[in-house]
Amino acid sequence: MKTALITGGNKGIGLETTRYFLEHEYEVIVLARDFSTFPLADHTGITMVEYDLSNIKGIPDLIAELDPIDVLINNAGIMYSLPYNDYPEEKVHHLMTLNLEAPVRLMQEIGEQMAKSGGGRIVNNASIAGQIGHPDVWYGMSKAALINATKSFSKIFGPAGVLINAVAPSPAETDMLEVIPEARREAFKQNVITGRFATAKEVAETIGWLGTASPEYINGVCIDINNGAFPR
Ligand SMILES: NC(=O)c1ccc[n+]([C@@H]2O[C@H](COP(=O)([O-])OP(=O)(O)OC[C@H]3O[C@@H](n4cnc5c(N)ncnc54)[C@H](OP(=O)(O)O)[C@@H]3O)[C@@H](O)[C@H]2O)c1
Repeated sequence: MKTALITGGNKGIGLETTRYFLEHEYEVIVLARDFSTFPLADHTGITMVEYDLSNIKGIPDLIAELDPIDVLINNAGIMYSLPYNDYPEEKVHHLMTLNLEAPVRLMQEIGEQMAKSGGGRIVNNASIAGQIGHPDVWYGMSKAALINATKSFSKIFGPAGVLINAVAPSPAETDMLEVIPEARREAFKQNVITGRFATAKEVAETIGWLGTASPEYINGVCIDINNGAFPR
């Protein structure tokens, strides 16, 4: 049986992604800080790892303790929705650590393992915010850099059989929506083809496909999940 590690697999898009991998008969290691509301805690296919990903230094030891990982889903992330000129330094640091440095460190550690063992798959949950100028400038920059890291690491580990891709969802129905101002949420709905936000499940199914079944030739790319909001 294969093993998937899903960061933030306890809530929102991550929780739906956990369900996807369980349905596809994977063992799922869910990494997050708070499992008090996790509905799958009793599932036999789940291992819960309570860990704060802002602890970058602890990542190598953490990975060394886990079973070999076949699929890594870098999903955990935060958004503050603060204006560029009123953004406390510690929040800049925390956001960039969690949204960028942590997934890159995980990609580095686990990608090396995968390359040595003959292959694997990594999917990074970026955002449309990384493709457009985003009002939370640090959030947008963190996601743009994650898309770039996806390309870089696919070139590093891809020749050894590791597929590394990203997704760029537009707003999806999760707790994260609560930090987006109402006016911007409405404007977004008017800017998409079907006038609604993505469901977490729609995003998870795309992540799941990239993590299990997409062809080998899809590597180093970022798939838009934006309902025509940002046509390219
Ligand atoms: N919802 C959207 O509109 C949207 C659109 C595009 C991209 N995304 C991206 O999708 C990903 C998931 O977001 P979501 O919408 O599902 O939001 P969410 O429901 O707020 O989930 C965020 C997840 O990240 C985990 N997390 C936060 N801080 C953490 C930390 N320090 N250490 C470990 N885990 C941490 C949370 O678990 P704990 O709180 O238990 O630690 C939670 O599982 C994010 O990367 C986000 O940027 C979301």
